[in-house]
Amino acid sequence: MGGAGSSWYESDIERIVATPEQIADKTAELAAQIAEDYRSVDELVLVCVLTGAFVFTADLARELGRRGVPVQLEFMQASSYGQAATSSGVVRLRKDLDRDISGAHVLVVEDIVDTGLTLSWLLKYLEGRSAASVEVVTLLRKPAAIRSAPPLTYVGFDIPSEFVVGYGLDYAGKYREVPYVGVLKPQIYSR
Ligand code: PRP
Repeated sequence: MGGAGSSWYESDIERIVATPEQIADKTAELAAQIAEDYRSVDELVLVCVLTGAFVFTADLARELGRRGVPVQLEFMQASSYGQAATSSGVVRLRKDLDRDISGAHVLVVEDIVDTGLTLSWLLKYLEGRSAASVEVVTLLRKPAAIRSAPPLTYVGFDIPSEFVVGYGLDYAGKYREVPYVGVLKPQIYSR
């Protein structure tokens, strides 16, 4: 076991896009806005879009808890990337909701929106479930999303169109545990 020195992933990261402190501050800011917007609602269903959003969802849920917003957690998985660094364009449902969301106020929690393909597909899918409302929060937004994604109610950071990992985001299943969001060195995914 290594000590608290430099981590195995550090040499794979070109630069940091959002530090743990910046992410924590932004999450608190988003939670404050969400708490204000949902103050008259009995319960908010957070739909975590697996796998990437698991870290952000956990932190957001606790920030909402601190502000007295009662939340329920649901998980969906719709994958468009597979093992690749760019979207395949094909969305597959790998895990559905476990509960009926009819009449519920739903907040879809994403880690990143890029082409918007995954989110468009998910929102269309949720449309048929008779929720009272469906809104979206994403920690990260890439430039393509501004042109093509469905409306995003809450956005953490606008980031450049580079391949980022960390804070839940992976490349081939790696880097999800990295505590910050960083640009992956291109040679890692082009070799
Ligand atoms: C990522 C991310 C979004 C989607 C965004 O998921 O979590 O769901 O891609 O890209 P888009 O806007 O171009 O559709 P991914 O398919 O990589 O799965 P993962 O969360 O399991 O890593």
